[in-house]
Amino acid sequence: MSTPTRRTILVTSALPYANGAPHIGHIVEYVYTDLWVRYQRLRGRDCIYVCASDAHGTPTMLKARQEGVTPEELIARFAEVQKRDFADFDISFDNFHTTHSDENREVTNHIYARLAAAGHIRRETIRQAYDEQAKMFLPDRYVRGTCPRCGALDQYGDSCESCGATYTPADLKDAVSVVSGARPVQRDSEHLFFKLGDFEPMLREWTGSGRLQPAVTAKLGEWFSAGLRDWDISRDEPYFGFEIPGETGKYFYVWLDAPIGYLGSFLQYCRRTGLDFDRYWKPDSDAEVYHFIGKDIVYFHTLFWPAVLHGAGMRPPTAVYAHGFLTVNGQKMSKSRGTFITARTWLDHLPAEYLRYFFASRLGPGVEDLDLNLDEFVAKLNSDVVGKLVNIASRCAGFIARGSNGQLAATLPEPALYGDFVAAGERVGEAYEGRDYAAVVREVMQLADRANLYIDQQKPWLAAKDPARAAEVRGVCTQGLNLFRVLVVYLKPIIPKLAAGAERFLGLAPQSWDDVATPLLGTAIEIYEPLATRVDAAAVKALLSASVENLKATGVPAEAASGAAAGAAPAAPGRESASAPDAAPATTAATEVPRLPNASIEEFARIDLRIARIEAAELVDGADKLLRLTVDLGGERRTVFAGIRQAYAPEALVGRLTVLVANLEPRKMRFGVSESMVLAAGPGGADIFLLSPDSGAEPGMKVK
Ligand code: 2FM
Ligand code: ZN
Repeated sequence: MSTPTRRTILVTSALPYANGAPHIGHIVEYVYTDLWVRYQRLRGRDCIYVCASDAHGTPTMLKARQEGVTPEELIARFAEVQKRDFADFDISFDNFHTTHSDENREVTNHIYARLAAAGHIRRETIRQAYDEQAKMFLPDRYVRGTCPRCGALDQYGDSCESCGATYTPADLKDAVSVVSGARPVQRDSEHLFFKLGDFEPMLREWTGSGRLQPAVTAKLGEWFSAGLRDWDISRDEPYFGFEIPGETGKYFYVWLDAPIGYLGSFLQYCRRTGLDFDRYWKPDSDAEVYHFIGKDIVYFHTLFWPAVLHGAGMRPPTAVYAHGFLTVNGQKMSKSRGTFITARTWLDHLPAEYLRYFFASRLGPGVEDLDLNLDEFVAKLNSDVVGKLVNIASRCAGFIARGSNGQLAATLPEPALYGDFVAAGERVGEAYEGRDYAAVVREVMQLADRANLYIDQQKPWLAAKDPARAAEVRGVCTQGLNLFRVLVVYLKPIIPKLAAGAERFLGLAPQSWDDVATPLLGTAIEIYEPLATRVDAAAVKALLSASVENLKATGVPAEAASGAAAGAAPAAPGRESASAPDAAPATTAATEVPRLPNASIEEFARIDLRIARIEAAELVDGADKLLRLTVDLGGERRTVFAGIRQAYAPEALVGRLTVLVANLEPRKMRFGVSESMVLAAGPGGADIFLLSPDSGAEPGMKVK
């Protein structure tokens, strides 16, 4: 019989920006990856997991300036916070480095030199907004002004949150630089471009060979049809990044050296451990390489990144897996609603593993968003982990301790039942491999129900009253604890601490997947101590109030709100650029909203405000900020595009009443015609609140 070759795997999670503390949206990303990594290791595979902080770019530079520290000091401070928070969530990195490192500079320069030598870099002079006061070119998101199309005030330089128009900063009316408040001018500068188009055949082949999720492949189809545009990889000084060798005052754009940061971190790991870096990255490598990312950065990882690697004579990734964004109680995380929860605040109130378990129960192989409904969280944890899983152990432990001197029986009374549990490992393993963690949890909980049913039927508590039935009690409880052990091993990637506690209780060395094939018989167990306690709804309440308070007290940087690597809803301040090249970052600087001139009562009376019921709400493909609403105005139906996507999950809106401007001219937008406008309040992004009438209002009623 031939021994199967041992899989050699390298895994990465998207790199968190170095200028903010992790929040629970980030934790989705790292849990999504960590479960897979831990599963591979449990199967005995050689699986290395690296990450780093994503240090470079304008946001880091400006934030450091604002705080009067060097960018290096800033990123070092947050690296500590990140490392600690990730460790406390049991994210099992083998290495966590930073992109601002010697190793990353080395790999970046190497890759750039190879791309340049192969003719994949070209030069072009571009016009760009420039702040003469701050003496810097301004990324689109650092210019704000009035939308050239709909006149909405205080919009970003690349797109309008109100009407969805996209444009360049030069098109904005009354543009101001977010950095200094000065009016930007247009200035020329020569940039370096990576010729993405050179790689179209390779990319079509790579993306089409079944390695990506169906939703991602579909999106790629659109991008291919739109044509692959060359990618601007240089930025002018001042910039926090790596200077481009052979150029003066030019730096690599952060998004070039960020994914290279995976290699930079891995190189540091290889140098520390003596591992062969090239074995993983040479074109004919036998190692598998997987990148786990949020769905907003698919473009970078499935087009630019494989092309850059290929162009530099290296292997592309085996696969890239994207996950959806996190909402809390059906809505985007919001500071004002108290649902903007940092990783640390969570840890201060609730066990990390409970969040890992809940996320696992909601994460599948696709890119759908997942919701942390806090009531469901409490119910799920109490029912599954405490009520089903741990319950098996606590029901059996006492009888073995008291009646059998802590010794398990020498045989199982129901070996076939045990066999079923072992056989289920096949399905559970496949679900892990396919990142269908929700299926893992479902499968294991069905088994837990069977284990509990077995104990219910055997009723050891009755048999224990009769000393003559001691062997029977011992057998039943040995069976129960063996079933428990199998389930613990299956859940070990999700709840590693609980699993370690269970191993101690059962007197076991750290278990691996295959160990469950042999039941645990005739050995001694320890005194049982509760492995998990119920979640108290009060702890959740305290978590929410603390989230509001913490943000006030510590002034958690707006960057921490970034969807970032992670997958909180993409209210992405702190990001220099987002998913596709037509999307972009938000800024952190506060801007004052200019006031409108006073309106007369007659002018106001001309606005026909009506109550409307939202009948349907859908995401709009290609528009990060819009939802398409179908509203009922009392018999009349209208379609409205509303810039509220960052604040509301579509399903949370259906059935809800709101207020609508009924006499607006229909407006043609890129995505369709908007026949009206709904009223909302708030600064924007995730903090926008739809107006709702009191109950009793009816669709069509006039608002006076
Ligand atoms: O979107 C983000 O949060 C980026 N910091 C992710 C970078 S991932 C990789 F490319 F480095
Ligand atoms: Zn507009």
